[in-house]
Amino acid sequence: CDKFVVVMVRHGESEWNQKNLFCGWYDAQLSEKGQKEAIAAGKAIKDAKMKFDIAHTSVLSRAQKTLDIILKECGQEGIPIQKSWRLNERHYGGLTGLNKADTAKKYGEDQVKVWRRSFDTPPPPMEQDHQYYECITKDPRYCDGPKPAEFPKTESLKLTIERTMPYWNEVIVPQIREGKKLIIAAHGNSLRGIVKYLDKISDQAIMELNLPTGIPFIYELDASMAPVTSMKFLGDPETVKKAMEAVAKQGKAK
Ligand code: 3PG
Repeated sequence: CDKFVVVMVRHGESEWNQKNLFCGWYDAQLSEKGQKEAIAAGKAIKDAKMKFDIAHTSVLSRAQKTLDIILKECGQEGIPIQKSWRLNERHYGGLTGLNKADTAKKYGEDQVKVWRRSFDTPPPPMEQDHQYYECITKDPRYCDGPKPAEFPKTESLKLTIERTMPYWNEVIVPQIREGKKLIIAAHGNSLRGIVKYLDKISDQAIMELNLPTGIPFIYELDASMAPVTSMKFLGDPETVKKAMEAVAKQGKAK
């Protein structure tokens, strides 16, 4: 086999996406629309006759639930699922729980775009008196990591990449090389990090990439793990384009 195939998908719309709130490590559930998106994603995978050996996801419910729905829909529920905090959404720091449009009204759309999309400017940190500090830092799902010293208080895309790529290189790539077919259900910014790395997208150009919820995309990699095919969406191009634009618009003041 001279080509390796990996499927990636951002979770379906969450209840916090629906309310347009910065979510990050808050464990929002899938909205009804998000569940429907996951069903459609599973059908698209079934129609494309794609088979998987192993699935990877984050420790957050919205990605896990999306994966479960997809696997059920394409009749592959039985495959092993590996979960890691390294695939989590980027930590949104002090912005967690704030409305994106209200934040744009208060601080300006340019500032919000810097916080959402700049490569290396993290949002302000989540302080101990933040409404969601306790429920995130004390969550038992983080028993196995990150270690207290590396537990993020906020993350830029750069910091997200620094904790996601070790998982890609040490866990995912060896499985790909063994010939395993993988599906990765993760998040807007952890997947932007992987895409940036694979396609060598510049720090500037990555600002314009917005990943839609619930539409799977395919990478074909050569033996050196370089993409032969990049980000081929299992969806009609017009729908994908509109969904990407809608994500970008979440940071506009209404
Ligand atoms: C969040 O964490 O709020 C979103 O799921 C991703 O947000 P973004 O598109 O604003 O980076």
